[in-house]
Amino acid sequence: GTPLIKVEQILDSTNQWLLDKIPNIRNGQACIAEYQLAGRGRRGRTWVSPFASHLYFSYYWRFDAGIEKLSGLSLLVGIATVNALEKIGIEGVSLKWPNDLYYQGKKLAGILIELNAQANEACHTVIGIGINVRMPPEQAKLIDQPWIDLTSLSSEKIDRNLLSATLISELQTLLPEYEKKGLKPYLSKWFTLDCFLDKPVNVLLAEKKIAGICRGIDDSGALLLEVDGQLESYIGGEVSLRLA
Ligand code: BTN
Repeated sequence: GTPLIKVEQILDSTNQWLLDKIPNIRNGQACIAEYQLAGRGRRGRTWVSPFASHLYFSYYWRFDAGIEKLSGLSLLVGIATVNALEKIGIEGVSLKWPNDLYYQGKKLAGILIELNAQANEACHTVIGIGINVRMPPEQAKLIDQPWIDLTSLSSEKIDRNLLSATLISELQTLLPEYEKKGLKPYLSKWFTLDCFLDKPVNVLLAEKKIAGICRGIDDSGALLLEVDGQLESYIGGEVSLRLA
């Protein structure tokens, strides 16, 4: 059988490797690669994946709950990732709704959750996490937004094995709890990590831009935006958020 943590030198995408195994796959199966030929980010973008430089990590989890209950999953995964970083001594990382990790305005890590769900059936999720560990200078040029890596945040060498194991342990603890109780137990943690909380932001929709003040999230993980004194909520997916 497949080891519970599958480590490969080269894959197209660690997310794809797990997706291809559904439904013949054990809960908690992880996949890590040293290099991705076709690493992918959200919105169909490429995730720059140089050899042996970063962490390309994917994790399979099967939810008995229907897909409609999983709207806050990407936020939960963001919290689990921040917890894992804190446990290996990296402090000061924040979250940008719905699921990016930032450090002082620069992107440190991204999350891409892909699912395979059919009505009235279990929801198969592949949770992909890419964390910048040590950015090679020649790759940095390919990235079109401010970024940072763990090496510049830490005086010690980053142990990617320890980080992976810590991440697995966090996900293993938090996912079953999230499945039972939803996002509620994590709301207060989210509010401490939200990098835009109480700041003026723009919500970018396909057709228009809405200006308001970020007021955090509700129980379902929807973004709360204050516009002219009224709270509006936005769900992830088609929406993105920028500092105004
Ligand atoms: C984003 O756009 O911010 C999400 C990036 C997610 C990248 C990770 S790397 C491991 C996994 N495999 C992929 O192909 N993508 C995710």
